[in-house]
Amino acid sequence: MPDRKITSLTIRRPDDWHLHLRDGAMLRAVLPETTRHFARAIVMPNLVPPVVTANDAVKYRTRILAALPEGATFTPLMTLYLTEETDPEDVRTAHQAGIATAVKLYPAGATTNSASGVRDFEKVRPVLEVMAEIGMPLCVHGEVTDSDIDIFDREPVFIDKVLKPLRKKVPDLRIVMEHVTTQDAVDYVRDTHKNLAATITTHHLIINRNHILAGGIKPHYYCLPVAKREAHRVALVQAAISGDPRFFLGTDSAPHTDPAKLQTCGCAGIFTAPNTMSCLAEVFDAAGQLKKLEAFTSLNGPKFYRLPPNEDTITLQKGDPVSYPAHIDTEDGPVTVFDPGFDLHWHVQS
Ligand code: DOR
Ligand code: ZN
Repeated sequence: MPDRKITSLTIRRPDDWHLHLRDGAMLRAVLPETTRHFARAIVMPNLVPPVVTANDAVKYRTRILAALPEGATFTPLMTLYLTEETDPEDVRTAHQAGIATAVKLYPAGATTNSASGVRDFEKVRPVLEVMAEIGMPLCVHGEVTDSDIDIFDREPVFIDKVLKPLRKKVPDLRIVMEHVTTQDAVDYVRDTHKNLAATITTHHLIINRNHILAGGIKPHYYCLPVAKREAHRVALVQAAISGDPRFFLGTDSAPHTDPAKLQTCGCAGIFTAPNTMSCLAEVFDAAGQLKKLEAFTSLNGPKFYRLPPNEDTITLQKGDPVSYPAHIDTEDGPVTVFDPGFDLHWHVQS
């Protein structure tokens, strides 16, 4: 039940622990949508070609900083794309010099621009061992890619076949299971008491697979991992509102132009940067747990990443429905903004 008495909420400024900013014209168009509300973000490295080395990360960070809107104070936290050729010493240098916050593991072929991802996990073991030694987190896209595994089962199978063995081999490695979508993943994280956390996206707290498939196909709700059945969405909401420090926000806001989404083989990704905070406030309010919003968006992430929470705050005010643009214009074409399917009453004053 919503808590009718709370109509204003001031929380520490949030961070986004999983974000796609892209490059070039798309970067310039989407970056202000994040910097308006967020202080920091873990920036995904799946560009073409990917951000693999410390040198790539320095250059990409420079391009992001150059694209910042006037007056914005925003810190991009860079990640390196793990390949079977990644040099452990380059990763060590990148982390120790403050260039890269984390390394990103995409199983080869799992999602957008993941062709250079990992096929043979033994090949990346030396990198993982260095990361364990220096306390550098590994962000994991937790889906197997075998064509004979049903797409709705790819996350639980990844946990059993990849994550559990990996954690046994390198137990000191600090891992973030990103964009979890299943009760199985929530249970696994909850039952594990060391070196494991999970991010949850805005959209997976709101949509289930019916939103994509029932009553006509809705490409703007298609992302990876694909949304699962309703019971899983409910498990994600329970985890997010629980205050458990192992769960925190990673929007996975992933812009693609409308022509790239609306085609015979459309891209995976949902663009939630503009309205994420209003959407989350609505979800937490509906669950009567607004008091836990700050932990999810602003406290639990910094704690896992061993960074201080932000000092400044944002205020959310409840009122008449707030409208966000249906899409933003970029030089590459329009990008549709996530439609939660219900009115948003929480206005963000930042
Ligand atoms: O839906 C997704 N889009 N999932 C991912 O893992 C990648 C992302 C993208 O880059 O578009
Ligand atoms: Zn992503």
